[in-house]
Amino acid sequence: MAFMLEDEFGDIIAKAWRGLGLTVSQVATETGITTKNISRMENYTRKPSRDEVDQIATTLQLDSDKLNAIATESWSPNTIAARYDPALEVVTVTAKVGGYPVHAYLLICMETREAAIIDTAANPKAIMKRISEINMDPKLILLTHAHGDHANGLMDLEDAFDCPTWIHANEPKPRSKNDLRLLKHGDVVSVGNLKVTTLDTPGHTLGGCSFYVRSTVIVGDALFAGSVGNASISYEKLLSNVQENLLSLPNQTVLFPGHGPATTVEEEKNHNPFF
Ligand SMILES: [Fe+2]
Repeated sequence: MAFMLEDEFGDIIAKAWRGLGLTVSQVATETGITTKNISRMENYTRKPSRDEVDQIATTLQLDSDKLNAIATESWSPNTIAARYDPALEVVTVTAKVGGYPVHAYLLICMETREAAIIDTAANPKAIMKRISEINMDPKLILLTHAHGDHANGLMDLEDAFDCPTWIHANEPKPRSKNDLRLLKHGDVVSVGNLKVTTLDTPGHTLGGCSFYVRSTVIVGDALFAGSVGNASISYEKLLSNVQENLLSLPNQTVLFPGHGPATTVEEEKNHNPFF
């Protein structure tokens, strides 16, 4: 595969059975596949056959063809055609947290060079370094959610850039130097000449949200290419919010997740087995 997806077959089926409130034994009974073989598929010591993919997809309410494309590693998202925008630059800053890569993003207005920092990647130093390398002026910080890998180190960024921080009103609040400013669905904040709209995408967390500007959305852990985030709060809400507030956007909209490669609305509609 051109590049690794954040979630592969085993991660996807585990998220689906947990999300539906099933146990592995129930999945085994429904599919006729042994619990041992399901576990081996989840830890990648056994490749599923096409029949097994079909049985699992039916039981877990996933799309069988899309799931099979991920099981056989025959799909990865193509965003090249959709990414060029003369008014907006998106810079990805990737850091490792507990050995796993996480992305923060810089949204830069190309007309004014004013910028928003989105999430911290728990590595304010990496963000400060990137900012010092390019000509930009951070004016605000936006948080997709408050998990440590997205919000730790916030106060260091607030200190460095003297910026206000915005977070969804329903989200637990990380420690901040200033009073946090609260967002709800549809709220708009300005970054230079760019207008950034808040979209509700809870389910992974209580007040998880996404940030939509022009034909780009920073989606946090609501959606990964070919998958969704862990539904710690509500699987049903996560899927319905992604469907209604992200996959309803124009096909060429580029989606930048907190983990793994960028994707597009069209790619997800055609390839994400949860939809
Ligand atoms: Fe998260």
